[in-house]
Amino acid sequence: MQITSFKQYEEDYKKSVENPEQFWGEVAQNFQWRKPWFKVLSWNFNEPNIKWFEGAKLNITENCLDRHLATSGDKPAIIWEPNNPEEESVTLTYKMLHERVCRFANVLKRNGAKKGDRICIYMPMVPELAIAVLACARIGAVHSVIFGGFSAKSIADRINDSQCKLVITADGAYRGNKQIPLKDVIDDALIGCPTVEKCIVLTHVRTPVSMLKGRDVWWEDEVKHVNDICEAEEMDAEDMLFILYTSGSTGKPKGVVHTCGGYMVYAGYTFSNVFNYQPGEVYFCTADIGWITGHSYIVYGPLSQGATSVLFEGIPTYPSPSRFWDIVEKHKVNTLYTAPTAIRSLMSYGEEPLNGKDLSSIRVLGSVGEPINEEAWHWFDEKIGHGKAPIVDTWWQTETGGIMISPIATVTKTKPSFATLPLPGIQPILVDENGNEIAGNGVMGNLCIKFPWPGMLRTTYGDHERCKQTYFSTYENLYFTGDGCLRDEDGYYRITGRVDDVLNVSGHRIGTAEVENAINMHAGVVESAVVGYPHDVKGQGIYAFVIYPEMHGEAELSKKDILQTVSRVIGAIAKPDKILFVTGLPKTRSGKIMRRILRKIAEGDTSNLGDTSTLLDPTVVEEIIEASKKL
Ligand code: WTA
Repeated sequence: MQITSFKQYEEDYKKSVENPEQFWGEVAQNFQWRKPWFKVLSWNFNEPNIKWFEGAKLNITENCLDRHLATSGDKPAIIWEPNNPEEESVTLTYKMLHERVCRFANVLKRNGAKKGDRICIYMPMVPELAIAVLACARIGAVHSVIFGGFSAKSIADRINDSQCKLVITADGAYRGNKQIPLKDVIDDALIGCPTVEKCIVLTHVRTPVSMLKGRDVWWEDEVKHVNDICEAEEMDAEDMLFILYTSGSTGKPKGVVHTCGGYMVYAGYTFSNVFNYQPGEVYFCTADIGWITGHSYIVYGPLSQGATSVLFEGIPTYPSPSRFWDIVEKHKVNTLYTAPTAIRSLMSYGEEPLNGKDLSSIRVLGSVGEPINEEAWHWFDEKIGHGKAPIVDTWWQTETGGIMISPIATVTKTKPSFATLPLPGIQPILVDENGNEIAGNGVMGNLCIKFPWPGMLRTTYGDHERCKQTYFSTYENLYFTGDGCLRDEDGYYRITGRVDDVLNVSGHRIGTAEVENAINMHAGVVESAVVGYPHDVKGQGIYAFVIYPEMHGEAELSKKDILQTVSRVIGAIAKPDKILFVTGLPKTRSGKIMRRILRKIAEGDTSNLGDTSTLLDPTVVEEIIEASKKL
């Protein structure tokens, strides 16, 4: 199923559009099914109701583990690189991983988990995180992984939204020279989570934690009580595989739901093709498993293809900004898949960290999460790929399950800052505000997808109407991505960024409404408005305009307090970069905040604010501009 020439790409693309069911039916033959499907696809974007491989039975872990045992049982599945480079790395072969997943699956059962139960995973980037994820899938439980940077309140909201029965965590996590007390955070969260019956705790940083009798058990003790034989649960292709929460333009994150069959086929197919993965190669994706990139391209995609996937616990700058390059050299990494924010951050240290590093193993480079600027693209190309490694700039979303628009390594001619062309099966369309198609090349518009693909979300957990409203109602019969997009004269796509109230900070999606809600929870804050502004490293920074009339003491202290509130409510990732205290916000007569004006001010471009005559109180704008100059 691997595309090896541009001609083949064109042929496959054509076939995938003209006869999608045949195309995906053939791709799906490359996976292992317990029972075949009776229908490849039925769909309707209005409800929406999407079914792939209807009637088929499978277990994704048989595809990621069991089926490789006979031929590649001794091949490395996961290479774990610890936060501290002085510590030994750990290699798990397919045989070892299979054994540990089965054993931990039995631990889950022993603790009352069964098919369909939701299980929250809040763990450091250690092999046991991948094991926990796969063990859930093994028994048909639905995992909801929460990134280790989220606060107790964010965790509790997510656990309650999907009524998780079990939590899997660790005593703590290392991130560079910091330690994060994961279990303490979970303890705070669980005070408000009545559905959680058990919490399984992995020992990792060896810090003392409190263990609640009857609820908390140690991972290390539990695995001693079970064996490593666990037959995989038979799942329907459309049974839920996982929930992953993501931010949107309203205050509350939504639980994006992916199902077993379609997601597996899509993650596996895109992994194999986009990175042109070759047997025996070492592939390193630097994302965290807490985000969709880690789900699809550290765990499910690579393992379904029998690949060797590097799992890195730490951060790019610890103990020095050479760390990525040390890992590449040490494990002879062939494919490096990372984020523009990491590239820009490493670029800022100059060439010194690269001196003497052997990067000759690198064959393919990848970028994901946000638009990559040309400067970062060229640096990545020249300094890391030595002009020889194609860069795949992969555009996709939590909701799409896998890569949608991207070059195919060694096949598609790349172009700096362009995600280039849609993968086979993907039918993008640009529309104007009213949903009219913008045809032809050399045009810009809102990016939609007009035909289903196997990896797409099926619903948002517990609230199907929200899924419909968010993605399928803006434009009739189209999936709306929320992104703006340019299609150039060559028909190449370039994603220009979100067109809704969602920020992309260091590749992390954060809703402005979510940050505003958090700031407003701070006592004394009357109102706030949050916008994004261009940030050299993060891509976008968070700028908060805050009304705080009875602020006591120093402004700087109050800012610190607000930052702490945001950390408590959401997590440190959502802390504003700039806070400006104001006495009013620019509003229309109907009370809507005019973010367009605030965005301009945040960008420092106040020369042309457009029409301000419809404002309730135009003088407030002058005042904000003056204050912003002093920030
Ligand atoms: C943005 C991450 C430009 C985009 C996989 C999208 C990108 C959002 C790219 C999804 C890219 C992702 N070029 N923008 N290559 N990749 N984005 O759900 O705005 O965390 O809508 O999924 O990131 O973020 P999410």
